[in-house]
Amino acid sequence: MTAPLIVAPAGAPLIVAIDGPAAAGKGTLARRLAARLGLPYLDTGLLYRAVGRLVLDRAADPQDPAAAEAAALALAPADLDRPDLRTPEAAMAASAVAAVPAVRAALLAFQRSFGQARGAVLDGRDIGTVVFPQARVKLFVTASPAARARRRWLELQAAGSTVPLAQVEAETRQRDAQDAARATAPMKPAPDAVLLDTTALDADQAFAAALAHLDTRLGEIPAPAP
Ligand code: DC
Repeated sequence: MTAPLIVAPAGAPLIVAIDGPAAAGKGTLARRLAARLGLPYLDTGLLYRAVGRLVLDRAADPQDPAAAEAAALALAPADLDRPDLRTPEAAMAASAVAAVPAVRAALLAFQRSFGQARGAVLDGRDIGTVVFPQARVKLFVTASPAARARRRWLELQAAGSTVPLAQVEAETRQRDAQDAARATAPMKPAPDAVLLDTTALDADQAFAAALAHLDTRLGEIPAPAP
């Protein structure tokens, strides 16, 4: 039995919340769903990565709440276009600044206004629990730690990195543990989220499973906006 739906106000734009641990396939899935639904897509992890990068630029400690908050308040749109946001270093810095409540508060309004304008697909850790608890569709996408680490390692290799698989797996586990254990907006499935385990699924199969869920949840899959 699926959990009861928290109904958004009639006429509210469609929000699809995709949460889950690192490298579970959220980004690929969210991007494809957004294209299928004709909705904007926001990778909220990129916001935390950009804040983490700014802290590192300033030679400060991402775990220092004052440094992390100052970076979040200084964030500018161009910071999201930096080419160095996908590195393991940026990921670890992102996870550290993401534990600072003032950082999360500083990024919340942007995420909400992005989605409220005309609906959106957003992926992250707290979209279904905190950013859009009233989202009509919530997926918690996961996979075994080994499968996730391997996917991230293959991505990094394709980008020219030589970081060993064992290091990627250790960092992925550490990041997940931090993201799930923090006091503010920890990573966890919303009570009404549907779990999608992609360990044995390729990207097409995960997309098909997500579409089937959307169909059940919404009664039909909306046509993309013209
Ligand atoms: O999705 P990602 O791997 O790019 O996210 C990087 C880090 O940012 C992640 O380890 C935790 C943090 N994050 C978060 O706390 N909340 C979000 N909604 C998205 C990311």
